[in-house]
Amino acid sequence: MMFTLPKKVTIIEVGPRDGLQNEKLFVPTEIKKQFIASLRNAGLQEMELTSFVSPKWVPQMGDAAEIVADCLDQNSRDIVLAPNRKGIDRVYSTDCRAVAVFVGVSNSFNLKNINKTTQDSLEELKPIIHELKEKNYFVRACISTAFYCPYEGKINESDTVKLCREFVEAGVDELSVADTIGMAAPNESYSLFSKLKAEFPETLLTAHFHDTRKLALANILASLQAGIDRFDTSAGGLGGCPFAPGASGNAATEDVVYMLERMGINTSVDLNKLMDAVEIIRPHLSRQIETGYYRLHS
Ligand code: HMG
Ligand code: MG
Repeated sequence: MMFTLPKKVTIIEVGPRDGLQNEKLFVPTEIKKQFIASLRNAGLQEMELTSFVSPKWVPQMGDAAEIVADCLDQNSRDIVLAPNRKGIDRVYSTDCRAVAVFVGVSNSFNLKNINKTTQDSLEELKPIIHELKEKNYFVRACISTAFYCPYEGKINESDTVKLCREFVEAGVDELSVADTIGMAAPNESYSLFSKLKAEFPETLLTAHFHDTRKLALANILASLQAGIDRFDTSAGGLGGCPFAPGASGNAATEDVVYMLERMGINTSVDLNKLMDAVEIIRPHLSRQIETGYYRLHS
């Protein structure tokens, strides 16, 4: 190998949230709970459980309170998304201790997704982040359209770095930097993540790739080269944002685990058990997912 590889990588499972939010048919809450339990059983210790967004905007996440009440595991880092003050107040009525706020670098995307400009979201979120840190919450900021926007096209790298800086200065613990519509090329991932790694050495840096054009694994490899050792992935490759046309599935957890383990990098995830989780959710999806080969040769 031409570059140094980490011995260990952290996988943040986003299937119960990003994976399901775009599913057209409502997945029964009981099935979501079983899905989450089996993902845990596969060894996933950081997970986005659900999001406290408007149920009118994203009906699939309408059962967020019940999911958190029944699934929260204090031994894992269970994260919930919240877009605004109302979402944070809903989080406060649960025992969840880790929150993800989210904002797009692209103003057009942010307006479609959260009904606010990027700047207005930032101004709303800064005092919220401060408050969450005062209360000792873990805070993650998801930075959408970090490379390309479905409405504005290519995003300037410097604009993404600037928005990341705002969140780091506001006090977040983690940045999850997203290629929302799966358009980044590996050289672009390498370039952005190298800069973020150099500028924010104290912040947890996570890469969130969507696999629309089948470049997620290539981008993950490029990000590893840039020193990233945390990746958001979704079991079965489910996923997508309802307000970002073209945001098909996330990098599939099984693909990423398979690649990394074959490279000698420890993910702590058991591939067979992960496939059990996929089998739980498969009958409830509106799309087909092909994962059979992992059963054959693992
Ligand atoms: P809005 O309509 O502008 O909200 O939506 P509002 O403040 O005008 O309030 C309207 C009504 O919604 C009020 O109720 C509020 O109480 C209620 P009413 O008085 O009419 O009965 N409301 C809420 N209810 C529940 N939870 C809340 C909440 N906030 C207001 N948090 C809003 C603004 C932000 C709520 C809406 O745009 C929204 O929910 N957006 C979320 C969109 C979303 O979930 N997108 C997907 C997640 S981001 C993503 O997938 C990208 C990521 O994966 C990274 C990547 O890949 O790029 C993270
Ligand atoms: Mg996403």
